[in-house]
Amino acid sequence: MFDTHAHVNFSAYKEDSDEVIKRAQEKGVGMILVGSQYSTSERAVQMAEKYESGVYVAVALHPIHLQEREVSHQVDNKEKVEFVSRAEEFDYDKYLQLGKSSDKIVAIGETGLDYYHLTEDDKDEQITKQKQVLIKHIELANELDLPMILHCREAYEDLIQILKNNRIKKGGVIHCFIGSAEQAVELVDLGFYLGFNGVITFNKAEKYHEVIKQTSLEKIVTETDCPYLTPVPHRGKRNEPAFVEYVIAKIAELKGLSVQQVEKQTDENAKKLFKL
Ligand code: NI
Repeated sequence: MFDTHAHVNFSAYKEDSDEVIKRAQEKGVGMILVGSQYSTSERAVQMAEKYESGVYVAVALHPIHLQEREVSHQVDNKEKVEFVSRAEEFDYDKYLQLGKSSDKIVAIGETGLDYYHLTEDDKDEQITKQKQVLIKHIELANELDLPMILHCREAYEDLIQILKNNRIKKGGVIHCFIGSAEQAVELVDLGFYLGFNGVITFNKAEKYHEVIKQTSLEKIVTETDCPYLTPVPHRGKRNEPAFVEYVIAKIAELKGLSVQQVEKQTDENAKKLFKL
């Protein structure tokens, strides 16, 4: 099993990251620790270096960290403020050096476009900035010969446009895919994988179920996005990489395949995309 999007490098695991990774490894779950700022990207590298195998890294600056704001997540159908993020300027050379610093680094991510948190007064300015920073990350991925892990919220049309005009040589994954069925087809046609997590186990996820049914299993990768988006039956608890098994089971159910078939294919997909 493979969790292509885990944030065990975040402060939610400050006390027990080693145990969390151990629990995953005992179940045979490999993972990519995903950074969202320079500090969390650097921490991911330090953590992965401790493991012989099965723990990899992605480094980047997430669009929500371009501006100081409260970052909230849905917890039991309520928005809960998780932390106040400080603004970071994207320093290409700093990330280039970090990207070259370890062979555990297998992707540039997570970065992308996120219009969900924008307010009316600075929307245009921020959208322009997010697009510029995304394009710089694409240059970085191409310079380092790495695929990308892309985040997208309420910005799928703009993302597709940018990906059409700025080719990522090694491709990538649209993580936590929550776009439309048509956008899914377009992104897969452009060569991207779609990443699915605990969201597909929630109530009212039928829209994503249709996307999974229509998408070739060869183009799907599994993830948790832990500590967020904990799958059923663990809703309300902190998420962790070991819970990727519930995502795999749901995909198997939706596609009418065995859990082993889905596990085998999604493992192969992750290995192929990230050259593991
Ligand atoms: Ni994430």
